[in-house]
Amino acid sequence: MSFASRADEYVARIERVLDHHLPAAEVAPRRLHEAMRYAALGGGKRIRPLLVYATGEALLVPPEVLDAPAAAIELMHAFSLIHDDLPAMDNDDLRRGRPTAHRAFDEATAILAADAMQPLAFEMLATQPALIGMPAAQVKLVALIADACGSNGMAGGQSMDLAAEGRRLDPAELEHIYRLKTGRLLRASVLAAASCATAVPDATLHALERFVDALGLAFQVRDDILDIEGSTAETGKTGGSDQAKDKATYPHLFGMLRARQRADELLLQALDALGAFGPGYDGLRWAARYIVLRQRA
Ligand code: IPE
Ligand code: IPE
Ligand code: MG
Ligand code: MG
Ligand code: MG
Repeated sequence: MSFASRADEYVARIERVLDHHLPAAEVAPRRLHEAMRYAALGGGKRIRPLLVYATGEALLVPPEVLDAPAAAIELMHAFSLIHDDLPAMDNDDLRRGRPTAHRAFDEATAILAADAMQPLAFEMLATQPALIGMPAAQVKLVALIADACGSNGMAGGQSMDLAAEGRRLDPAELEHIYRLKTGRLLRASVLAAASCATAVPDATLHALERFVDALGLAFQVRDDILDIEGSTAETGKTGGSDQAKDKATYPHLFGMLRARQRADELLLQALDALGAFGPGYDGLRWAARYIVLRQRA
């Protein structure tokens, strides 16, 4: 069976895990809980959980162990999207084909829903029964995900992304922002599964890092291409949003041709990093192609 068909199962799996751990909408404070569920369960490609489970296949970590790390990472991602869409940031009205959280609810509720998703992520890492016998992995996961989302990771990258609006950056400066705002959480997805594996050889770990570092960059280059070329039906977002705010993006600064070339080059680099590994790594190969060749943003 190819990973493509297992990918659907993993997506359904993470939906179930998130659904189970998010507070019920009927429980007070209802509006806050509704907003959390709206933002976390409203579709999305679930690419980060897919990377967690695909790395688990490569390193022989069972999916039960990976449910909490995959859900924690997806919750941190969902929180970052709520904030990213706020008027103070990208000021977007559409996400996953529906109004953004602050449009569907209100700004304060959206901010609080994002606030509440962060501790929920870490609570899951601390309390999920499948991780209870693995304290060393739990501590590693907490450190890894916290670091990936903090000022040296996603939040730092988002800050730099906002400061770069309207500026001409060189490719190295732009890619540094991409690595932080997007790359670090994708990297954490792969390393989270590795943190739950036993005795991963250094060479394997380095190959996985090379793989996901190229992929993280490719992911954001592709997202920026789709902001220009993708239809709302495909992306679930308002097209041209980056241009409207004079965002620093690959296609905007260096042209669509170079953006495409860079995404292709990064895909080859990612696949090359896995070159020596066997069919256990096919899930990661599938994820790489999906990320770069996708039409859904
Ligand atoms: C969007 O991420 C934000 C970026 C880092 C580009 P995704 O494209 O993974 O969003 P969903 O979760 O599939 O909606
Ligand atoms: C967002 O990048 C990166 C995040 C950390 C959320 P974008 O601002 O390009 O993401 P979209 O296009 O709104 O999904
Ligand atoms: Mg943004
Ligand atoms: Mg945005
Ligand atoms: Mg974008």
